[in-house]
Amino acid sequence: MKVLDKAFEAMQNAYAPYSKYKVGSCVETKDGKFFIGANVENASYGLTNCAERNAIFAAYSNGYRKNQIKCIAIVSRGEKLVTPCGACRQVLSELLERDTEIILSNGKDTIITNIEDLMPLAFGADNL
Ligand code: THU
Repeated sequence: MKVLDKAFEAMQNAYAPYSKYKVGSCVETKDGKFFIGANVENASYGLTNCAERNAIFAAYSNGYRKNQIKCIAIVSRGEKLVTPCGACRQVLSELLERDTEIILSNGKDTIITNIEDLMPLAFGADNL
């Protein structure tokens, strides 16, 4: 799957001198574009940006919106699959459709899920 290959390529760009845990991500749009992201850490740890947020922000920064996004891949080489942190789930729940495919892989195992499964009862614009 091209989106997975690109996510693994993006993982090479991770700047993770503190955790040493490299993550890559790639958004594929319905019209065949790819937007990559990698985690970028900071000595002030809380300022770290996760790979999937960088990828989805890149897609949005280039004018794409949730209805134009086909899927997002998030990858690492850890023993366990990388799963989005709570902050990223909140962001993805606003910036992806509820059933958009979220592909998680470590090169050995791959699962396809979506934000409805990862974050049921999410807080969003509808609650305001
Ligand atoms: N990280 C991601 O980039 N995405 C995830 O889904 C989980 C965690 C990053 C943040 C930090 O740079 C490193 O992985 C360890 O938490």
